[in-house]
Amino acid sequence: MANSTITFFVNGNEVRVQNPDPELTLSTFLRYKLNLTGTKLGCEEGTCGACTVAIARWNALEKRARFVSANACIVPLYLVDGALVLTVEGIGSQKRLHPIQERLSSGNATQCGFCSPGFVMAAYALLRNNPTPTADEIRAALVGNLCRCTGYRPILEALESFANPSGGCCMGGQGGCPCKESTKENSVPDKEPLLICGLVNYEQMRKFDESSEIIFPPKLIMQHRQQSFVLKGKRVTLYRPTSLEALSATFKSLVTVDRFVSTGIKMRLDHSMNPSPTANAVWLSIQHIHELKNVVVSDGIIHIGSGLTISEFVVAIRAHCKSEQYVSTIDELFAKYSSDQVKNTVSWSGALSSALPTSDLCTLFLALNWRIRLLNLSTSEYRTLTADQFLSGSYGRKTAMESVEIITALLVPSVPKLGIAAFKHGKRLGADDSVLNAAASYDEATGSCRIVVGAFQRPLILDKSSACASFLIAKLRNGECPSDSIASAIDADFEQFSVENEFDYKKRIAKAALTDMLSVLAGTVQEGGLSITRNALEPLQLFKGSDPSISPVGRPLRHAAADRHTTGEAEYVDDIRIHELKHAALVLSTEAHARIISIDPSSALAVEGVLAYVDAKDIPPGGKLRPSLSPLLMVQDDTPVFADGVVEMIGQPIGCIVADDVETARRAAQLVNVEYEKLPAILTMEDAIVAQSYLLPKPMQFGKSQEEVDKALKAAPILLEGELEIGGQEHLCMETQSSIVVPQENDEWTLYTSTQNPSDAQYLCANLLGIPVCNIVVKVKRLGGGFGGKATGDHIARAPAIVAANKLRKPVSCVLHRYDDMITTGKRHPALFKYRVGIDDDGRLLTVHVVQYIQAGYSMDHSVLIAIMIQYADACYRVPAMRAECWALKTHTCSNTGFRGFGRPQTFFFMETVMAEVAQRVGKTLNEVKKLNLFNEGDRALCGSTIRNYCLPKCWQELERFSDFDKLYKECEEFNKTSRRIKRGVAISGTVQGLTSHWFEMGNAHVQIMLDGTVRVNVGHVEMGQGLNTKMIQIAAAVFKIPHEKINVIEMATDKTANAFPTASSIGTDVCGLAKACEKLLEGIQPHIDQHEGDFVKALMSAWIAKVPLQANETVKVEREAHNMPPRELTYFTTGAACVLVEVDCATGEHKLKLVDIIMDLGDSINPAIDIGQIEGAFMQGYGLMTSEEIETDCNDQITNATVSGYKIPTVHMVPERFRVKLLENGKNYPGQIYRSKGIGEPPLLTATAVHSAIRMAIDSYRGKVDFQRLDSPLTAKRILNACQGNLFPSFTSIHSSFFTHSIDEMLYFVALLLIFFLFYGRSFVYKWKSFKRRKRMAALIPGDDGIPLFGNLFELGRNSETMPQSILERAKKARDQLNGEIIKMWVMHQCVFLPFTGEMMQSIIESTEEINKGEDYDILEPWLGRGLLLSGGDKWRARRKLLAPTFHFTMFSGYIDIMNRHTKILLDVLENQSRKEFDIYPFMKRCTLDVICDTAMGKDLDSLHHPEQPYVKAISNIMRLGMKASMQPHLWSRLGKWLTGWQKEHDNSVKIAQDFTNEVIAERMDYLSRGEVDSNRKALLDMLISEKEQSNLSMEDIREEVDTFMFAGHDTTSATLGWTIWCLSHHPDMQQKAYDEMKEIFGDDIDRDCTKDDISRMNYLDRCIKEAMRIFSPVPFAIRQLGQDLQMGPYLLPCGSSLAIAPYLVHRNERIYPNPEIFDPDRFLPENCNSRHPYDYIPFSAGPRNCIGQKFAMYQLKIVVSSILRRFKLKSDRDFVSISKLAEVVLKSGEGINVVIENR
Ligand SMILES: Cc1cc2nc3c(=O)[nH]c(=O)nc-3n(C[C@H](O)[C@H](O)[C@H](O)COP(=O)(O)OP(=O)(O)OC[C@H]3O[C@@H](n4cnc5c(N)ncnc54)[C@H](O)[C@@H]3O)c2cc1C
Ligand code: HEM
Ligand code: FES
Ligand code: FES
Repeated sequence: MANSTITFFVNGNEVRVQNPDPELTLSTFLRYKLNLTGTKLGCEEGTCGACTVAIARWNALEKRARFVSANACIVPLYLVDGALVLTVEGIGSQKRLHPIQERLSSGNATQCGFCSPGFVMAAYALLRNNPTPTADEIRAALVGNLCRCTGYRPILEALESFANPSGGCCMGGQGGCPCKESTKENSVPDKEPLLICGLVNYEQMRKFDESSEIIFPPKLIMQHRQQSFVLKGKRVTLYRPTSLEALSATFKSLVTVDRFVSTGIKMRLDHSMNPSPTANAVWLSIQHIHELKNVVVSDGIIHIGSGLTISEFVVAIRAHCKSEQYVSTIDELFAKYSSDQVKNTVSWSGALSSALPTSDLCTLFLALNWRIRLLNLSTSEYRTLTADQFLSGSYGRKTAMESVEIITALLVPSVPKLGIAAFKHGKRLGADDSVLNAAASYDEATGSCRIVVGAFQRPLILDKSSACASFLIAKLRNGECPSDSIASAIDADFEQFSVENEFDYKKRIAKAALTDMLSVLAGTVQEGGLSITRNALEPLQLFKGSDPSISPVGRPLRHAAADRHTTGEAEYVDDIRIHELKHAALVLSTEAHARIISIDPSSALAVEGVLAYVDAKDIPPGGKLRPSLSPLLMVQDDTPVFADGVVEMIGQPIGCIVADDVETARRAAQLVNVEYEKLPAILTMEDAIVAQSYLLPKPMQFGKSQEEVDKALKAAPILLEGELEIGGQEHLCMETQSSIVVPQENDEWTLYTSTQNPSDAQYLCANLLGIPVCNIVVKVKRLGGGFGGKATGDHIARAPAIVAANKLRKPVSCVLHRYDDMITTGKRHPALFKYRVGIDDDGRLLTVHVVQYIQAGYSMDHSVLIAIMIQYADACYRVPAMRAECWALKTHTCSNTGFRGFGRPQTFFFMETVMAEVAQRVGKTLNEVKKLNLFNEGDRALCGSTIRNYCLPKCWQELERFSDFDKLYKECEEFNKTSRRIKRGVAISGTVQGLTSHWFEMGNAHVQIMLDGTVRVNVGHVEMGQGLNTKMIQIAAAVFKIPHEKINVIEMATDKTANAFPTASSIGTDVCGLAKACEKLLEGIQPHIDQHEGDFVKALMSAWIAKVPLQANETVKVEREAHNMPPRELTYFTTGAACVLVEVDCATGEHKLKLVDIIMDLGDSINPAIDIGQIEGAFMQGYGLMTSEEIETDCNDQITNATVSGYKIPTVHMVPERFRVKLLENGKNYPGQIYRSKGIGEPPLLTATAVHSAIRMAIDSYRGKVDFQRLDSPLTAKRILNACQGNLFPSFTSIHSSFFTHSIDEMLYFVALLLIFFLFYGRSFVYKWKSFKRRKRMAALIPGDDGIPLFGNLFELGRNSETMPQSILERAKKARDQLNGEIIKMWVMHQCVFLPFTGEMMQSIIESTEEINKGEDYDILEPWLGRGLLLSGGDKWRARRKLLAPTFHFTMFSGYIDIMNRHTKILLDVLENQSRKEFDIYPFMKRCTLDVICDTAMGKDLDSLHHPEQPYVKAISNIMRLGMKASMQPHLWSRLGKWLTGWQKEHDNSVKIAQDFTNEVIAERMDYLSRGEVDSNRKALLDMLISEKEQSNLSMEDIREEVDTFMFAGHDTTSATLGWTIWCLSHHPDMQQKAYDEMKEIFGDDIDRDCTKDDISRMNYLDRCIKEAMRIFSPVPFAIRQLGQDLQMGPYLLPCGSSLAIAPYLVHRNERIYPNPEIFDPDRFLPENCNSRHPYDYIPFSAGPRNCIGQKFAMYQLKIVVSSILRRFKLKSDRDFVSISKLAEVVLKSGEGINVVIENR
């Protein structure tokens, strides 16, 4: 199988690729090798659809090619071998648009255009197979395509026109479209009937005609049988056999096969996370094995081959299954399964093998218990398992398939006897990842039912519910509604899973699932949930007509670049091809706040293709790290380009790696090793408020004084007070931040960058390099979406690129991967409001005092400006006495920035909520109180401006009529009366946004007229989808009176229009000044035009000869003086209102937006098509903000959903069925405004707050309550569900009530402690309140009660270290026996501790290389040990471990063994004196081990065996005693308590003595070393540290702390173990004898001979005795870790910030692992008895990366000492073995000593 060439066709041309890397994706190949850049990259994870292509293969059976859509970013190139690939370039071009492209272009369905090629190709693949699809099929085909700009309505309308031949709007009332009725019924009779309805009619457009499409290449028809091949990539070798025989042969010939893969799509995605440059994986692909590609029906069984995709699996069921119910259920379930693109490419066998817990496919298979056929490639034998058997792994993810087996087929009965039902719930209604799925099968004949729920870490098979399902089905059939019975059926089954994450939420959804599924199985009509199918789209656009013969201004022209968008010809930054271009990828901080100790890029630099590592040190002299701090810039921003010494957020750029290609750069960037020292981080707004961490020392304040509002509030008849929060929002521009910088001669630069602010980009780069601004030209052709995110955001890509390019003197591109983009760039500011509102009895606002906190993040960015936006906090309402303040909070999180609406969405949301509360208080409808309070023209707004050129009341009034609001409202109320589960809500919200403030109102334009009569325009603003260029063209055409086709807006380039303002604030068209530039030119040309009787071209030539300027560069500002406009006031307000109607499923929290009607006043729209597009797009973006778009974080505030699949922007499924927009026909505007138009980009977004109010109405109706409920934003399904239950904010005090059951004495004790608690912990407690709440919530799922408020289980643990281990053990026993649990939790004050008690459970913590930080309980040792190896964490620990590990290598031991023998001899001599009487042997053990460790660690002979009263020895024992005391006694937890009781003094003295001693020894040793007086065979640890001092940069203190660490860790543990081993042997004479016999065998009768290494290796039985002693009396009973991240442990997600015990004491005493655990039985450690145990069931030395470094050392010492004692003495004891008191201090000791009798042998 040596072939390594793959062959395929792209757009009709044959392509042969020799040995493509198996990891190479189709998109990379298309874009970078074939330069087909129309295939865009928006997510690179298969979820945005921007990279959609059509792939066709020959189907020999059907004798035709089948086309499917696919996401090229996840398809490995090798998969297209033998296929035809069509990209957007292949089906049409700007010169000859394909009908799909034409409809999207003409239908105004593109804005930024980045998503357009993907939509085109998704529709194309559908039409090629199905030229006459239904509207539903079209919508289904587009589910996997995201658009952030348009709001989808125009896309759907354009593409659905293929379903409806007369598609689109009937343009005036002949067709059946909604415009007819709307215009007739709703137009106002006395107004001019000039409204045009509908923007486009598709009827006249070209139809899809298959015969004119590119044909399937005949060559591929001839060669449709696939060839086998082997591909050897850098990190993966892939074998692809094509028959089972070849597969077996290949398998047998290979030494290793890491994985069988089907398509390899999932494997490649997973593998791409691994940054290693040499990951030597071997994959064996089985997808093209012809035997596995078939569907065969025989003996009533459908055999579905494992090589089929999920789409093919669904088709097979559809084709061969005889049960309609099966087919429709499976169709419905898979309609919600991701997207066509994914289903068309991934395999069903891959999904099944991956066995993901929430896999829809696995849940379905389990419920139907279908059979799966497996082939063993070693034996060639087949076996068949049921899905149940196949998916039997304990925590999901595991299957019963062996590593030599593959799945060959699925066996499905063709005439199934069972009834089936399925259910899927995602975060968004429609296709989405499952939060919960479920499936059920029902056997009518036997009445047996099988119900499976996929929601947790393993599938949940609902046995009990299944058992009573037939009873419930019968009841349902009788017309009884058994929802209560269903609920209790679930309760019984769910109980066992109560410890799972999000248990309550999922249980509630599971109830809905069960209700739905049972009623389907019963065949009864129950009130079901919301369906994703929609009624036909009812779009309508109404606007004022204009006469094209008079002027192009006012005409609904399509976007000027629409044709280029839809053909993929529109160029974005990453599409620009530059010779010798290098690629940069960012190195991002993984800590929120930390000092950078070191950066080691060596591993990255060693990767082939990597050119350089670049960071702050590479900023050239004269350049600035914070280039945005400059007097030349309007907005000051302290954001550094790279972290300089300190990082302040997770995701902050530290540096970048530059490489030859993007992939290499990105992987290598992950190999840069950064060491940090953590610093305290402020992560949340609550933390920042408590810590008073503000960006500015004072808040931004507007309105009345504090006294005035206080007075007004006092006087108000009704007072409202509350708090409210709105989350942030990710811009998610489809094009990520991208820059290309090109160095030129003379230190000149050309930058192509995705910025909204080219002028600032120019200045910043000049500041960054320290070069003149004029040396830099910034060019921006277009952006793939901006929305404010690229006003400063592109800096994150641009700045590193220019520093790198400057260093390498080569062009460098930096295009952020979606994850990096989402993690590092700023977002919309989350905001917290605290408010007091005074109203009168009618609900009129009298006064409002609001304090807003916005989360600025770690640097300024635009946060100060956003804080100033609090001046618009009155939204659209008149408030006579208002005071608004805004604090910008500085936190260690990403630096938030501007986002469409710029601070207003937050304040509008606030006022929306205030209105809801007002309405509830005065008993009016929301609509009534809103209208009562609306601004009137002439009012004075909070910002100080007069409300003018304002039409909101008019829009509102018209909207009520347009949408028939009163009727809708009544219908909703009626509907809600009868509908129990689905509730409706309807609401209107308004928007008011004052534009053209004096700040921004300046624009630049550069116009050049060519002699052929064409005009070239550059404006100072950027085209980012908002249609600016199109409007500019219209204006220029209007002025010159030439066709708009003659005008070309080239790009924004700073060499044409310098010092321009940013493209922001919706005023691009207002200020671009183009008209003036054109008018100025026209002035000169006009005489020539007149002279040539209007012939423009002739006039130009004559003007040119006359030296009349034909180019102009104009800077203009908005004209104020001419119209008496005050200099600082807003010239006009864009206004409008939206009416929305929603349906809420109160059983699942899902909702559906049914209807949206919007009326906006835009003055005189320059282009209604563009403006309506802005309105719809902005509304949908606001809708996302209000509902689905939630930035999820963990307790470190690290974003956990920084992917396009994780972050939920609206999809086509979320578009309302009725979406109508009307532009107010008689709007008014400021005459100084260009063509009297109004800015539109942002204002409509604010109307989406109506969705929030409508959902509130539905929730209130469900609750049947009238009290006001705080509803934060976004209203996700989970929040809605909680709100329906009215339990959004559980109060802390309700957590536990048993506090009041204690005695008076205890109460007094508690109260005293409480006082101490608040005095000393209060602040930090409040500070950590949010993370505490989260821990509490997550811990609630884990067995164990919470104890009493504030103190938790503290008192149940007992107040001493003796009762504590027993108490914990009993809790564990209870959890194990009663709940079958393997973990318990305990609360100690605010700290939650988890204690797992099986090795399997502990695996994740033990093996974690990240969770290595120690718990707080070690803190008592810190004053003595500092942060040495035992106590340090993070990178410091890693470095120290690396340094110290060699000391414990075997070769070092020979010297140590001598020392051990020597001190053991002394011990034996000393013990002689104690012979024949009972004595406590433990102190002797302690001294012996101390002497050994002192000698080996410090090279100092302490000789404590002879001199027990030494100050050092006493000091150490004092430190231990005091430490224990302080940890057990709460009054010693505060510094004050320690001082008052004298504890501190005693402790400090002891620490000083111990440390002084060590310091002296170090000094002495250094002296010896320098004199060469140290025996090289007897080098102590200290010697090694001293010799490493310089190289490893160790201070004297570093050396001291390590030596002290080893002194502690090396003696306390070993002495305790020695004591316990002696205890065990003295109580078990027979075993003692056996051990002694072993010694005799090794040493004969020689009792004095030293032990050698060889002797030690022969002590097998003694080894078992010591191990068993350490099992029963685990020397380190609990080793605590502090979780820095959430950690998955078995089925539980443990919250970060909590403690987790590696608990040998509990595992070793777990009866299920060690039966009769109290019995001493060394044979438990016979190899045959160990085999059945999990490796981590025995962990006295812990295990994993943070195990005991001295383990071998300890075992040597233990064996030397115990064997020597046994050889000399017999051991006895009369005491009770089991009941000995055990003190669980850091080390487990006996409370009464180890009292034994020794007798000489
Ligand atoms: C963008 C995206 C969206 C998704 N959406 C959903 C969704 O909505 N719902 C849902 O449930 N799932 C979803 N998935 C999961 C998806 O269904 C699986 O990842 C996919 O089916 C795996 O198939 P594959 O061909 O990529 O597997 P491969 O990468 O080929 O293999 C994956 C694993 O399966 C093993 N394997 C594959 N075939 C065999 C075989 N025949 N015999 C033995 N072992 C085999 C491989 O060894 C490997 O471990 C989604 C995945 C992606 C990428
Ligand atoms: C029977 C004897 C011993 C037992 C049972 C024991 C047990 C352990 C355990 C359980 C840990 C992990 C603690 C945690 O994760 O919090 C540990 C760590 C450690 N032990 Fe031991 N130990 C023993 C002897 C020794 C000896 C003799 C030395 C030194 C010579 C030593 C040095 C250390 C050090 C330095 C660590 C910290 C390692 C790190 O964090 O990287 N131990 N020991
Ligand atoms: S880039 Fe391929 S799906 Fe998003
Ligand atoms: S037009 Fe769809 S993302 Fe911009």
